[in-house]
Amino acid sequence: MLITIDGPAGAGKTTVSRILAQRLGYRYVDTGALYRGIALAALGAGIDLADDDGLKSMVTDLDIGFTIQDGDTRLMLGNHDITEKIRTPQVTMAASTVSARPVVREFLLKIQHNLGHAKKAVFEGRDMGTVVFPGADVKFYLDASVSIRAKRRFDEFKGHSAQDVQDVEADIRRRDADDSTRAVAPLRAAGDAIVIDATNLSVEQVVAAMLKNILP
Ligand code: DC
Repeated sequence: MLITIDGPAGAGKTTVSRILAQRLGYRYVDTGALYRGIALAALGAGIDLADDDGLKSMVTDLDIGFTIQDGDTRLMLGNHDITEKIRTPQVTMAASTVSARPVVREFLLKIQHNLGHAKKAVFEGRDMGTVVFPGADVKFYLDASVSIRAKRRFDEFKGHSAQDVQDVEADIRRRDADDSTRAVAPLRAAGDAIVIDATNLSVEQVVAAMLKNILP
């Protein structure tokens, strides 16, 4: 089966997708990491994030993809391991900007389709069920209130970032607005997605609700 999990930033998609993939013996694919990788590459090359021509020529010969090392999935840009470098607040905001550019989405569509060929995978992102894999076997849309999402993100990065919880919430609101109002592949639940509101649910409860829908 191919399973998709979409939803806004901080809803808990990553944690839940990882656990779900592990329980099912499936591959977990974090598509947001690919957008972050492109953002990091563009920032590194000094490309204006809204310059479609610049982005296009950059992605033409961009070698980005996942490798597995000692059971751990790593994101590689050429032969550089960028797994940790893509998690800064600057790359996070830049990823939201480049993800609105059609050239970037087109480039990553091919990569994502290739990763989906083998099925037996849990794909996490924003448009997995709507655009990338409209024929997925089971689709989920995971949501939660903005304040809960901000608190979770803050707890996750406490000590590694200068942002306080209000800054995190402001970033999340901005990203929600950008991700859901962009012209291409905006964030929304697919018509046939199972919507789960995780505001008052534990990780285990979300995973259990998903498993019930996958293995009835
Ligand atoms: O899930 P994330 O925070 O790592 O995603 C980073 C950015 O990439 C986010 O602003 C939305 C965008 N994204 C997207 O547009 N489509 C996806 N399938 C995954 C992420």
